[in-house]
Order: sequence, then structure tokens, then C-alpha cells
Amino acid sequence: MSEQPILVAGATGTQGRAVVDALIETGLRVRALVRDPQSAAARALADRGVDLVRGDFDDAESLAEAMRDVTGVFSVQMPPMPDDLDSELRTGHLLIEAARNAAVETFVHTSVARAGDQAHFVDWNSNRWWPVYWNSKSGVNDAVKAAGFPHWVILKPAFMMDNFIPPKASWMFPSLARGAVDTALKADTRLDLIAAADVGRFAAAGFADPARFDRQEIDLAAESLTMAEVAETITAVTGRSIVANSMSGAEARAAGNHAGLVESQQWASVEGYKVDLHRAWSHGIALERFRDWAERHRSAFQVGEG
Ligand SMILES: NC(=O)c1ccc[n+]([C@@H]2O[C@H](COP(=O)([O-])OP(=O)(O)OC[C@H]3O[C@@H](n4cnc5c(N)ncnc54)[C@H](OP(=O)(O)O)[C@@H]3O)[C@@H](O)[C@H]2O)c1
Repeated sequence: MSEQPILVAGATGTQGRAVVDALIETGLRVRALVRDPQSAAARALADRGVDLVRGDFDDAESLAEAMRDVTGVFSVQMPPMPDDLDSELRTGHLLIEAARNAAVETFVHTSVARAGDQAHFVDWNSNRWWPVYWNSKSGVNDAVKAAGFPHWVILKPAFMMDNFIPPKASWMFPSLARGAVDTALKADTRLDLIAAADVGRFAAAGFADPARFDRQEIDLAAESLTMAEVAETITAVTGRSIVANSMSGAEARAAGNHAGLVESQQWASVEGYKVDLHRAWSHGIALERFRDWAERHRSAFQVGEG
């Protein structure tokens, strides 16, 4: 184990937990930034030998304390909230500033594929695709690049496979419980997919060998599937019959889908993550395909009969 730990933000969440797993696997020491050290998720980390430090993305003092003697920081930010549109930019800058003050060597940030390319989106100038989301993502990326870290990496994942299981599936795919994948994606739209575990593997590789991906923005997707193919795979893995229904935006909202998610599905049908899969596979880290990911998470699916 290296002497100085890596601080993992969002360590109880989907990507942060995957980063913790991969760092442990790599033999690097982990410190987890958690809001509540007594939560079940935080205690599960502590049980695995992870040091916990209490902190909040919005509390600069707690971030400074958490950074003491760390050599690397994994950064994940929450998207802006409708009632706090500056939140992602603000907390992104706070974490970067704290890491810079602590003379952190390697900063690995997870963003999203296409962040920074939004000016090229169809209808971008008509404010169709919630500009605050894309501008926040690219704004934090720009701040990471400008911060002067000796080493930085920006990971740009596409759509997480982990969205098809709880806790995300309960609001992202409420129809799964009824045996359906109801979306506003067109039937022939292929969605670029990545497992959170692969975000973890790339982050850990970036910390283990800071020169390897230094100063790179890395788009991440293992493959690109239609929702019919996703439904077919979940059917095969769970033994429950799942169908994919392609709906209009109004129909998808009426079926109980979150309005913001419906908009992102419409975006994916028009624009999409456009990850160069050949390039994503070229970095020397084997990516997990949806079928393998689904097999690994077979017992986590909450699906009903169609
Ligand atoms: N889902 C996708 O398909 C996808 C794809 C690409 C990019 N993204 C981006 O990924 C990000 C979300 O990542 P995720 O899915 O890993 O997140 P997540 O599963 O929702 O987990 C969020 C983590 O951040 C922590 N957290 C939230 N607010 C905090 C605060 N104020 N102070 C300290 N910790 C806080 C949470 O801690 P608690 O346990 O205390 O709640 C939790 O550990 C978003 O920015 C999203 O845009 C998502």
C-alpha cells in the first residue's frame, strides 16, 4: 500500500464506490469523503478498511481537512439542481481549489461524454437541451485543466449500465417493475453504455500510474445498444419477460418517467454520446459488455413480468 491515500468524493455513490473497489484492488490506500460516517453505505466502506472523513461538497473547510496528506483526488459532482443552478460549478471549483491548496499530485474527475462539445448540438442555440447541465459539466472540466495539477485526467462516461438497477432504476426506469423499458428513445437509437466499474478501473489506473492518462479526456462506453437489445438481455439474464416501448415525450412522461430524463432520452435520439468505441477499447483496459454486467448484477434487477 502506498503511504499517502487517494481521497474519493462521492464514495457511497455509484461511481465513487466503483473507484474505491478498483483502488483497493490496485493496492492503493483510500480515504472516503462521506457526509454521514454512520450511514450504512459509509460503514460498509469502513468495514473494508477504508478511512472515512466527514465532508460536504459545499463546505470548503471540511474539504481542506479531508485533503490533508492525500496524493490524489477522485472528483464527482452532482448535476445542478433546478433551485440551485450554480451548484455543480460552485462545488466543482471548491473541490479543485482545496486539492490545489493541498498540493495534490493527481486529480481524476468524472464528467460526461460530449461535455465541451455542446455548441455543436442540434438546436443548441434554441436552449433545447438544458444548457446549464452541459455548461456546468464543461465549466468544471475547464477548471480541472486550468488548475495546474501535476497530473489530471477527465473521464467522460456515457450512460451508466448501473442505471438499470436500484437505486437509480426506481426513478430512471420505473417501468421495469412492470416488465417494460418505456423511454422516449427512438426504437432504432443506440445508447452508448458503460459500467461504473469501468470508470473505477480507469480512475485507479490514473492514480497508480499518473503518466498513463495524464492530461487526457477519455470518452467511455463499452458498446451501443437499442432499448430492444437491452430488454432482450435483461430478459435472458433474469428469466423475466421485458419489452422495450419507444414513446413520444408526452407518452413517456405520462407513463411516469422523470421529465429531465425524458429530455435526455430525446437528446440521445437526436445527438447522443457519440463515443468512439474503437478508441474506448484502445486504452488497454478491457471494458465490460452489457451482457456480462447484467449477469454480474442478476440478483439486483427489480423487474416484473411484461
Ligand atoms: N447516470 C449516468 O448515466 C451518468 C452518466 C454520465 C455522467 N453522470 C454524472 O455522474 C454524476 C453522478 O455520479 P454518481 O451516479 O456516481 O452519483 P450518485 O450515485 O448519485 O452518488 C452521489 C454521491 O455523492 C455524494 N454527495 C452528494 N452530494 C454531496 C455533498 N453535498 N457533499 C458530499 N457528498 C455528496 C453522495 O453521498 P451520500 O451517500 O451522502 O448521498 C454519493 O456518495 C452526475 O454529475 C451525473 O451527471 C451520470
